[in-house]
Amino acid sequence: MSETCHYVIFGGTGSVGSALAAQLLQAGHTVTLGVRNPLAATELAGHENCHVVRADALELDSLEACLKEADARGTLHGVANCMGSVLLKPAHLTTDEEWHSVINTNLTSSFAIVRSAAKLMRKAGGSVVLVSSAAAEIGLSNHEAIAAAKAGISGLVRSAAATYAPRGIRFNAVSPGLVKSQMTRKLWETEEAAAMSAQMHALGRLGEPSEVAAAIGWLLGPSAGWVTGQTIGVDGGLGSVLTRMKM
Ligand SMILES: NC(=O)c1ccc[n+]([C@@H]2O[C@H](COP(=O)([O-])OP(=O)(O)OC[C@H]3O[C@@H](n4cnc5c(N)ncnc54)[C@H](OP(=O)(O)O)[C@@H]3O)[C@@H](O)[C@H]2O)c1
Repeated sequence: MSETCHYVIFGGTGSVGSALAAQLLQAGHTVTLGVRNPLAATELAGHENCHVVRADALELDSLEACLKEADARGTLHGVANCMGSVLLKPAHLTTDEEWHSVINTNLTSSFAIVRSAAKLMRKAGGSVVLVSSAAAEIGLSNHEAIAAAKAGISGLVRSAAATYAPRGIRFNAVSPGLVKSQMTRKLWETEEAAAMSAQMHALGRLGEPSEVAAAIGWLLGPSAGWVTGQTIGVDGGLGSVLTRMKM
């Protein structure tokens, strides 16, 4: 039987975060879910190996407190940040408040998690996985703020990977294309919107939360023990592959 581990997942109520939690629990691991509203995590919270701790991306102390609480319960092997938001607006219509909200929810929370995880994992090592976006790889119109936040995540994992490699801590990110999740519902809920979104991806379809979760789970675990500093596209080709339109 493979080694069982203890993982923290921030954003455990989200589509990708809850799929990841379900996969890790199914594999026999222990999971601490960091969520801003613990009442929204009732389904997974019923599992005997699942603990729920309040954690808000906009309250950095709550992220550190969540990690410390989890670590006090049992050594941490990995941390994934699946919290995030999206803003589809051109720069000239984006307010200061919207910019700060996007940067804080996506990038600042990731930095705070890297900082706290590095402190806690310096002795025993571990794995940290963040979530970037294909919008940081390829220019998509109306994505200026979110593309900037997610591009920051790729730089963050590369530098943290270099700093903490001697301590045995790996830092990586996944970079999803358009995934059928709560935050993107408007982009796929009608047949017309789904078809338009799907044709931007070389593989001709949108992603499922479970597909992104599987990649995060792999990066968290020992099978990816020789992988660090990477941002891996899980995106149907959106970030890097152009295909010819069907004739
Ligand atoms: N879906 C896509 O197409 C796509 C594409 C590229 C990248 N991503 C990234 O993938 C990751 C997972 O998103 P998803 O697709 O699973 O979307 P989702 O279902 O909307 O999940 C987003 C998660 O972020 C949490 N969150 C938002 N603001 C928060 C805050 N201030 N404090 C704590 N938690 C907060 C949400 O909590 P609540 O449940 O409390 O709202 C939810 O758990 C995100 O980083 C997202 O940016 C998604």
